[in-house]
Amino acid sequence: MIIAIDGPAAAGKGTLSRRIAADYGFHHLDTGLTYRATAKALLDAALPLDNEPVAEKMALEVELAGLDRSVLSAHEIGEAASKIAVMPSVRRALVEAQRAFAARKPGTVLDGRDIGTVVCPDAPVKLYVTASAEVRARRRFDEMVGNGFPADYLSVLADIQKRDERDMGRADSPLRPAEDAHLLDTSEMSIEAAFLAAKALIDAALNK
Ligand code: C5P
Repeated sequence: MIIAIDGPAAAGKGTLSRRIAADYGFHHLDTGLTYRATAKALLDAALPLDNEPVAEKMALEVELAGLDRSVLSAHEIGEAASKIAVMPSVRRALVEAQRAFAARKPGTVLDGRDIGTVVCPDAPVKLYVTASAEVRARRRFDEMVGNGFPADYLSVLADIQKRDERDMGRADSPLRPAEDAHLLDTSEMSIEAAFLAAKALIDAALNK
């Protein structure tokens, strides 16, 4: 069983995916971390973010077992990740590793931008989780302030809009819902309500 969860930054995919994986005893991969780990390796080595062969080499070296959101969550890493994510050979390298992960038993939950469209187009359950840019910016802002980081709501909103533009506008694997994805708009929905809606869809697919 593969559950594919896509959507824009800060829509609640991560929380929802972890909750689903824990509930069903499935393995979870946050594929954004694979792009972030590639970007961090380049930043750490002071290598440029616009050299595709160099970025591909770093992507091929990413170890899924070592991915840690607390190390990779920095804003600059997210920005750098969305820049190298436009490179087809970087995507190919990371998608191959993501597909190998998706085959793990008894089941997997993968979240990202292109899981239902490119990485696992045959996944029996596909969710597209979204929320308005303002709601997503507010959540990100509250999270940053909650973690003790100074933040400015309007610049958080501008960053989210810029990231959406880059993720939806790129030529290779742009962010968009798969034709057979179920849309979950979490703008006015609690995580619990989103989880229950997802659970009903997954249970229906498991009982088929
Ligand atoms: O989800 P997260 O913010 O960690 O992702 C960082 C960046 O990685 C995204 O903005 C996107 O450009 C890229 N990404 C992607 N495809 C995925 C997951 C993330 O292009 N499946």
